[in-house]
Amino acid sequence: MHIADKNVLITGGSRGLGQALGQELARAGGRVVLVGREAQALDRAVAEIRAAGGRAHGIVADIGDKQAIYRIAGQAAALVGAIDVLVHNASTLGPTPMPLLLDTECEDLERIFQVNVIGPFRLGKALAGAMALRGAGVIVHISSDAGVEAYPRWGGYGASKAALDHMSRTWAAELAGVRVFSVDPGEMDTAMHAAAIPDADRSALADPRDVARRIAAMIADPVRAPSGARLAASAWALAPVPEPSIDHAIGQVASQATGSDAGRAAAGEARP
Ligand SMILES: NC(=O)c1ccc[n+]([C@@H]2O[C@H](COP(=O)([O-])OP(=O)(O)OC[C@H]3O[C@@H](n4cnc5c(N)ncnc54)[C@H](OP(=O)(O)O)[C@@H]3O)[C@@H](O)[C@H]2O)c1
Repeated sequence: MHIADKNVLITGGSRGLGQALGQELARAGGRVVLVGREAQALDRAVAEIRAAGGRAHGIVADIGDKQAIYRIAGQAAALVGAIDVLVHNASTLGPTPMPLLLDTECEDLERIFQVNVIGPFRLGKALAGAMALRGAGVIVHISSDAGVEAYPRWGGYGASKAALDHMSRTWAAELAGVRVFSVDPGEMDTAMHAAAIPDADRSALADPRDVARRIAAMIADPVRAPSGARLAASAWALAPVPEPSIDHAIGQVASQATGSDAGRAAAGEARP
């Protein structure tokens, strides 16, 4: 899928990975709508994209609030038109420091699931039908390795990400023509990571802008990022920036030095 002129909705777009993804997809020519709860942070994220020449809008809303979902879908459609790319990125850890499961309040687990699973489900329901009717669209679920590995104190959040992954696979199995996949972004230097592990060595964490570049490449690549996949951003090789080959460089030198056919041939310029 070419992102240029596509309409993109990203939940949790005011900070961290969602903000970086908004910048990346706007740079690629997408019309980007960002969702977040804090108006000021959202305005800043939108203004930064616009200042760089991109097209962006913000919708202040809580993805865990049932009443907000149709408003998000309606406002996004009014702002940019039918959504082509939906990224479920907003997420909560629940209370921090993160408690053991035995100490987790049921209400806290409910809230984690409202934001991380039920919100994406409701928003998916509001938007995926139109994508299926058009036989086009991409839905990305931002997951975590905590959805696969069982780490003490990550049980509530991890269970929500496992549910999100499975919902992603099921949407993929059910929605013809819509590409649905989930991504484990890996550990990134963001506010969420700082809240979860305040004493982490930040230099060992990925830059969310690098992860965003990888996810943008996944969205663009239906072959390497097929429907139903669960992808790890760290394992995604970005296409290398083309560099002149040694032969090409030698050929250029030879060609410049002699103007010879041999030089042009080495530079790949010889004609039959
Ligand atoms: N950082 C990591 O190391 C890491 C590792 C694995 C997976 N992930 C996943 O990657 C994604 C992005 O994480 P991040 O680290 O970039 O997080 P972040 O820095 O905390 O940013 C979260 C974004 O989501 C918004 N948000 C949070 N709750 C929301 C709600 N209820 N409704 C709407 N927006 C909400 C926040 O804005 P407001 O607070 O203003 O709403 C913010 O824009 C998440 O799904 C996370 O689970 C992160």
